[in-house]
Amino acid sequence: MNKKLTFLGIETSCDETAAAIIQENKDGSPKILSNIVSSQIEEHKKFGGVVPEIAARSHIENIDFIINRALKESGVSIKNIDGVAATAGPGLIVCLTVGLSIGKTIAGFLNKPFIAVNHLEGHALSPGLENKINFPYLLLLISGGHSQYLIVKNVNEYKQLGTTIDDAVGEAFDKTSKMLDLGYPGGPNIEKFAKKGDKNFYKLPEPIINKAGCNLSLAGLKTAVLREVKKINNKNQLKFHLAASFQETINKILRKKTLVAMEQFRKITKIKNTAVFVIAGGVAANKSIRKSLVNVSEDMNFKPIFPSQEFCGDNAAMIAWAGIKRYKRKLIDSLDIKAKSRWPLDESAPFMKGPGLKL
Ligand code: KG4
Ligand code: ZN
Repeated sequence: MNKKLTFLGIETSCDETAAAIIQENKDGSPKILSNIVSSQIEEHKKFGGVVPEIAARSHIENIDFIINRALKESGVSIKNIDGVAATAGPGLIVCLTVGLSIGKTIAGFLNKPFIAVNHLEGHALSPGLENKINFPYLLLLISGGHSQYLIVKNVNEYKQLGTTIDDAVGEAFDKTSKMLDLGYPGGPNIEKFAKKGDKNFYKLPEPIINKAGCNLSLAGLKTAVLREVKKINNKNQLKFHLAASFQETINKILRKKTLVAMEQFRKITKIKNTAVFVIAGGVAANKSIRKSLVNVSEDMNFKPIFPSQEFCGDNAAMIAWAGIKRYKRKLIDSLDIKAKSRWPLDESAPFMKGPGLKL
């Protein structure tokens, strides 16, 4: 394809209303013409978490404005876009439906191709917005809803190595912050208050750290935090110690599981020299996690790549980019596609939640 491609991306899977215009240069590199994200943090703060109905209503109220701003800032007229990409899952159906419907409407009205993007593929390919990376690479996707190790073999081709069997890493941060009354969203607050505490003060459990490959389990850690919270009587210094110890435990678990995932990656791909390790999703913004995963990468001859902060959290630039990549592989969707709350990147991976799970 020898033409510049310009895509509108739309993202409304959770609590960010986002639109972006991305252009692919002739050499295959991206140009970010606009990337607008409107966060609903203030609306959900008082509830300590995302309330789906409030999130959906807020998307409906804002989406036209956000798309228009993205177009205006990019300087591109809507009739000159080459396609529309919108997140179709996984996420909250009431939220996904807002962005998906408007994306399909625009594409249908303009008679342009429509691409239904898996939000996780958006995160998986997001480092491509800033770096030229060759496939395959190892991906750790750590967000509010997902925590997975995957081999990114190509666009639309993923092998899941491990996943969480209960809580996602971001979810564990959010719940811990809520228990400690440190505010919402939990991740950035735990990170901030952890700096004031002693990370070795509490010895917290590290569930399945030495078994089940690179699968993760965090529910037991959360229960242990709750037990300690009940004993600390709102004493601030103990809260900070608990935040720091929680973050350190997550770091220990991720270090160990990353080693296992790296070994599995090398065994499967047979790559012996330096390989790429991408860490994406909202939790990848955490500086202490970044530092510890950089250390593991150095030890294991991997080159760590973190998207910059604006592309770690939810955004539509990554959705537009995934849309362009899928379009080039002729992965175009019909306008009757529906939103999906569950949509694994590796459809062949075993479902790792629920009773009867054997590790
Ligand atoms: O990728 P994302 O924006 O949305 C989802 O797809 O889930 O990730 C949001 C998650 C939240 O759980 C939030 O607490 C967490 O990322 N997060 C962090 C940090 N910043 C955001 N977790 C730990 N440390 C941070 N600095
Ligand atoms: Zn996300």
